[in-house]
Amino acid sequence: MASKRRSVYRCNECGAESPKWAGRCESCGAWNTLVEEVAAPAPRRRGIRPDAGSGIEPVRLGAISTPPIARLHTAIDELDFVLGGGIVPGSLTLIGGEPGIGKSTLLLQCAAQLQAAGVTTLYSSGEESVDQVRLRAERIREDASNVAVLPEVRVEAVIERAARYGAHVLIIDSIQTMYTDELEGAPGNVGQVRECAARLMRFAKERSIAVLLVGHVTRGGGIAGPKTLEHVVDTVLYFEGDGGHSFRILRAVKNRFGSVDEVGVFEMTGTGLQGVANPSAAFLSGRDGSIAGSSVTALLEGTRPVLVEIQALAAKSGYGTPQRVATGMDQRRLAVLLAVLERRARLPFHGLDVFVNVTGGVRLVEPASDLAVVAALVSSVHDRAAPDAAVFLGEVGLGGEVRPVPATERRLAEAERLGFTSAFVSGRGRVSSSIATIRIQHVTDLVERIGG
Ligand code: TYD
Ligand code: MG
Repeated sequence: MASKRRSVYRCNECGAESPKWAGRCESCGAWNTLVEEVAAPAPRRRGIRPDAGSGIEPVRLGAISTPPIARLHTAIDELDFVLGGGIVPGSLTLIGGEPGIGKSTLLLQCAAQLQAAGVTTLYSSGEESVDQVRLRAERIREDASNVAVLPEVRVEAVIERAARYGAHVLIIDSIQTMYTDELEGAPGNVGQVRECAARLMRFAKERSIAVLLVGHVTRGGGIAGPKTLEHVVDTVLYFEGDGGHSFRILRAVKNRFGSVDEVGVFEMTGTGLQGVANPSAAFLSGRDGSIAGSSVTALLEGTRPVLVEIQALAAKSGYGTPQRVATGMDQRRLAVLLAVLERRARLPFHGLDVFVNVTGGVRLVEPASDLAVVAALVSSVHDRAAPDAAVFLGEVGLGGEVRPVPATERRLAEAERLGFTSAFVSGRGRVSSSIATIRIQHVTDLVERIGG
């Protein structure tokens, strides 16, 4: 029935459909991303008769009684926490991350724990051979010997096997290696990925089986090609970290069964991933507060405050344009803060190379860390250490004014827990805290305090 099939072109970046091929996607503007896809013909529908009913009755919300969600605990505390208390049967979860970040390791450890707890778990691997999975299993500290591995990439076969095996949890590593016969086109293209995910979703709901999908993320940050998958699944977790550090952050960006933005912190060790129960202490370990150019701030990761160290180094530059290198923070934000210090506090950065680094591979996204970045910069320029046992919390405006940050008390409580005795905060707003607060109205106040 090939004649009934129609060809469409789908963008690998945004998933938009186009009737004809083009070099550039009309929807998102990406180049060379359209791939041909043969769509199965839509089933023919007759006109809807007014008396045709589905037999489904409307239900009053108050009349529905839902039993509490029984969750499967993975015994990996950080993972359970990010999921909102464990895996929900019948849910579809996407775990995205760059290649090599540790997705397969995390899921194998999860499978081992579930299996050990008597939850039948099937690990379907299209990325790696069973031998490669076994080698990984030997490294991790959990006993994965009872985990069944299925080297299969055809989604219909995976579903059929999982049903026959009686799996309660099905792990798909990765969704980009899966394909369905129903569609043409290579595994990994948007059409295939979406269709496979949709089938797995139906399977999960019908059988009340929890399905966990691994999805590779492209450099741009989207889950490769199918950003659209995020709408299909119940939960989206991202696994982040940078290659140079062993810390990994698992972040919930969508969760139908829990809160979003919660994070779990892991460390990649020689025996798999290990949850970090005290991230602040881990990120600050190895800090020498007596060195100029170091400061500490408290970030809010989900509901958890986490302390991180910011290091700055300002050094006389050679000829040409001075360098500005930011690791773990936005380069443009650094440029703004430097400009504010130049204009509002008369600190000359124009002849200096500036390097800023956030330790532990954490990224600063909140403006709440501005004051700490400024403190590290001022400290480096003056070559005088910032107060050692102090944290810095504040957003810096273009006028050099320092603004209060949300959840100040919670952040200060974390600082106190780690032995910090004082905090530099905005001069505005009320703060009740048991550690001493030093009020900073303007960046010039900070320059006076640190520079003397
Ligand atoms: P992996 O889980 O294969 O990443 P992904 O599935 O996200 O691509 O992890 C890959 C990296 O983790 C690899 O560089 C090896 C390292 N690793 C350890 O350091 N310790 C371990 O115990 C394991 C299993 C892996
Ligand atoms: Mg992998």
